[in-house]
Amino acid sequence: MTEEALERQLLVFANDIGALYRREQARAQELEGALRTLKTQYLETVRTLAFVVEAKDAYTGQHLERCRVYGVALLDALGVAADYPDAEFGFLLHDAGKVGIPERILNKPGPLTAAEWRVMRTHPLIGHQMLADIPFMRTAAEVVRSHHEMFDGSGYPEGLKGKDISLAARVFAVVDAFDAMTTDRPYRAALSLDHAVTEIERMAGTQFDPEVVKVFLPLCERLRPAS
Ligand SMILES: [Fe+2]
Repeated sequence: MTEEALERQLLVFANDIGALYRREQARAQELEGALRTLKTQYLETVRTLAFVVEAKDAYTGQHLERCRVYGVALLDALGVAADYPDAEFGFLLHDAGKVGIPERILNKPGPLTAAEWRVMRTHPLIGHQMLADIPFMRTAAEVVRSHHEMFDGSGYPEGLKGKDISLAARVFAVVDAFDAMTTDRPYRAALSLDHAVTEIERMAGTQFDPEVVKVFLPLCERLRPAS
């Protein structure tokens, strides 16, 4: 082959490789876009499901969404958000198991009897069963199962203690309590930010993981600026 012919062939190869690279790049971008769309659609679906499950009042929907936003921000501040990509689904669906609790117990106007409490306390396990077999809901299922566990082991349904409780569930416990405290409820006005911070600090080590609280406190003023 002459030098000229070799040069022509090399040029053809280079053009082919260039075209192939551009096609692959376009395909990768398309795939990335499709994944983003899929993730948004999952989130919308889960959010709708959560709102349907808890469609009691306007507060619940906003509370769920704030818990999701606060929880993701806290996981991010802890440097583990990428390790728990589906935690936000669990934050939204934490009480989904209440669909399995009889209406007469859920909406009982007076205090529950000991037997009724035993039934009520099964809702984390019912919710966990609903999500346990969905492969992309592993962390979400853990959050649902453990959202009433306490750091000192005094929670339910399993009385798990310390780091035996999934980190995403320990994060949820803090942001759920924080949002409940800093929001007006029918039976009491919202606590001030300072008051909520004091309460959360007081419960670090008993109800909450102290390491999670330590990272949350500097973050919470940004999440809920004092008015
Ligand atoms: Fe619950």
